[in-house]
Amino acid sequence: MIKIRKHLQKDIPYRVKWLNNPEVNKFIGDEMGQKTNLKKEKEWFSNYLKAKNKKFFTICDSSKPIGFMGLSHISKSNKNADLFIAIGEDDYRGKGIGKIAIKWLINYGFKKLKLHKINLGVIEDNNHAIKVYRELGFIIEGKMKDEVFYKGKYRDFLSMAIFNSKK
Ligand SMILES: CC(C)(COP(=O)(O)OP(=O)(O)OC[C@H]1O[C@@H](n2cnc3c(N)ncnc32)[C@H](O)[C@@H]1OP(=O)(O)O)[C@@H](O)C(=O)NCCC(=O)NCCS
Repeated sequence: MIKIRKHLQKDIPYRVKWLNNPEVNKFIGDEMGQKTNLKKEKEWFSNYLKAKNKKFFTICDSSKPIGFMGLSHISKSNKNADLFIAIGEDDYRGKGIGKIAIKWLINYGFKKLKLHKINLGVIEDNNHAIKVYRELGFIIEGKMKDEVFYKGKYRDFLSMAIFNSKK
């Protein structure tokens, strides 16, 4: 049973585990494949608690944390935000959980925060994520050529967005 709750201090060790998982960090971060540690994630969390423009959630299988997601750069004036998601536990990817979680987050952004648009960035190689985003209604708005250098190759980065059609 999938449950979504607030992202909490007790999730910090999971953040380290998930963000260091090669199956996750090959697709995320400012620099693909970068490693994190407890100190950096404690710092991230204390900044997160102070930030007014970020809302993060932990995705759980009953009570077991399996991943996290959130909206950042939430702009009240532009009514937009950036979406992020990572299913950190290997056994839980490809089972429909990401789709359920993203749907929940889109609904949260549009209904609760009353956003007009939700943006995300995804590396062109991340076919799985792109498929999920498309199925949920995200469109490709642009492509940044050679934006990421990873494992000896420049890769394109896609900007995707979904719009709140009910105003
Ligand atoms: C991207 C991610 C959030 C998707 O969540 P998920 O739970 O794995 O995705 P789902 O199981 O909901 O997949 C939904 C669809 O993708 C398909 N799919 C599953 N595994 C796949 C794979 N390896 N390659 C391509 N498509 C795949 C499923 O068949 C499903 O399609 P359907 O709804 O038509 O049946 C998750 O895989 C993840 O965290 N990946 C690592 C981090 C990452 O890439 N984050 C996004 C950065 S932009």
